[in-house]
Amino acid sequence: MYNVAIVGATGNVGRKFLDILEKRNFPIKNLYLFASKKSAGSKLKFKNKEILVEETKRDNIINKKIDLALFSAGATISLKFAKIFVSIGSTVVDNSSAYRMDKNVPLVVPEVNPEDIKWHKGIIANPNCSTIQAVLPLKVLEDNYGIKRIIYSTYQAVSGAGMDGIKDLENGLMGLPPQKFPYEIAGNCIPQIDIFLDNGYTKEEMKMIDETKKILHKPELKITSTCVRVPVLKCHSESINIELKKAFEINDIFQLFKNTKGIKVFDNINELKYPTPLMVSEKDDVYIGRIRRDFSIENGLNLWVVADNIRKGAALNAVQIAELLIRSDK
Ligand code: A2P
Repeated sequence: MYNVAIVGATGNVGRKFLDILEKRNFPIKNLYLFASKKSAGSKLKFKNKEILVEETKRDNIINKKIDLALFSAGATISLKFAKIFVSIGSTVVDNSSAYRMDKNVPLVVPEVNPEDIKWHKGIIANPNCSTIQAVLPLKVLEDNYGIKRIIYSTYQAVSGAGMDGIKDLENGLMGLPPQKFPYEIAGNCIPQIDIFLDNGYTKEEMKMIDETKKILHKPELKITSTCVRVPVLKCHSESINIELKKAFEINDIFQLFKNTKGIKVFDNINELKYPTPLMVSEKDDVYIGRIRRDFSIENGLNLWVVADNIRKGAALNAVQIAELLIRSDK
């Protein structure tokens, strides 16, 4: 049994941590919940018990014995507090972008690169939500055919921007102005997620590009990306266009995905079967449909990939990392 802490417990992903830890019956001895000063003193439910939320501050951390800390309170909080947890012997699974590209920190999707948890030095990073769902099919394709180039186009839910993102959609539907996004999101599409960088890409787009290369151990992969926020509450959808190195039969691609843990193929155009955000909401698997050849290039493939950004894209993936950790403990 383990002493577990959640940092950012009152947030969107934090609450999902509680739900998933309970449903998967994670072996917890004591559970400690942390959030901002504003939430300190409030309580959250776990297994029919009310658990106190504490302020995330050094004094509240160093007097505890915590084996595992799940972080989802943004990069600034991770940079400030993750190493304090490591100093008291905790292993941190961090959902923020703070450590993802750090050479000393593994970036892990358990179905894709579970071997990378072995070299952690106290912190393991959980990838960006839009990257997690993409790398499941990409890993299978890389292993079987080799990948030459990837083009990502995403349609991302407002919940990826936390509680404030959800509020912007809800308020926007009532005609109120946005607080979180640069434009109204209700009835709109915004081709900007996170800030713009000097190269003209957004930070989200570069996260997808850089994290995919790190997780697949392919620094030379050619990838481009366009990330768009859409007025959807939950689940990110992605059109992924892939140029493979070797020739393929489309039926073999269906079969490969059907045999991959964590992927559900939902694809039958005669019956209008393809995944949508509403359908995939609250599901654990990554759903793939519209699997078809891209006739415009040699060995081209198109996929439509949908997953719950708060479950597989965040909390579930982090808990799966924690499960890998405790299995490697035994
Ligand atoms: P709080 O609810 O007290 O503000 P989301 O991304 O869904 O909005 O969630 C963000 C999470 O990060 C919340 O749990 C939030 O707590 C937490 N958080 C925000 N600012 C801080 C801070 N300064 N210290 C600790 N936790 C914070």
